[in-house]
Amino acid sequence: MVDLAPVICVDGPSGSGKGTLAQAIASRLGWHILDSGSLYRIVGLQAHLLGISVDDDDALEQVVKSFEIRFATERSPILFVNGSDVTEAIRGEEATRFASLVAKREKVRAALLVRQKEFRKLPGLVADGRDMGTVVFPDAKLKIYLDASPEERARRRYVELKDKGPNVSLPDLFQSLKERDVRDKTRSFSPLKVAPDAYVLDSTGLSIDEVLEKALVAAQGKGLLITN
Ligand code: DC
Repeated sequence: MVDLAPVICVDGPSGSGKGTLAQAIASRLGWHILDSGSLYRIVGLQAHLLGISVDDDDALEQVVKSFEIRFATERSPILFVNGSDVTEAIRGEEATRFASLVAKREKVRAALLVRQKEFRKLPGLVADGRDMGTVVFPDAKLKIYLDASPEERARRRYVELKDKGPNVSLPDLFQSLKERDVRDKTRSFSPLKVAPDAYVLDSTGLSIDEVLEKALVAAQGKGLLITN
């Protein structure tokens, strides 16, 4: 049997710092990275731009199968889809809203499952999202479930956004984050949940360095090679 590349999963709710932690682990280990949320965002953005209804499963499936994706470099994640730079566009309000709607569709998730598995390459993959450890890479060597209190997650998002525009309100961010949590945890297909074999890491009150340190200790405990 062919030896598959090892995988570390980082799952958790919006704003828990999954992306930052996944990048830090990948750069420490020299592994590839998959930000699975960006794939849902690409599908959401394309659906919006092409005027595809979010319940037109066949058209959405075609979107998933047809786009070509390229990260400029692993370290500066500039994202090209079919040759266009969509790095900023997928973070916009419409793409965010459409992403969460297409993420509920079973056919979209099934088609994206295939594409996500293609990212698994040697020497290893760090994958972040909601269902990396429960559905996409159930045989991952290490599954981290990264959590933080809703207050702290909203506060982090506020700090991130407040310099980008004047219309940012902490109470609004808190409210929309709680709504996204409910949608993520209650959808019928691949809801956000803690894998039975996951290491639950609560990052409330911790710095990124402290979170990374805990994650690396857990990786070491699983026999994954740590290079300094
Ligand atoms: O992590 P994010 O905010 O970029 O994710 C965008 C959307 O995609 C969000 O609504 C959750 C959804 N998503 C998902 O359903 N499964 C994943 N593995 C990753 C993201």
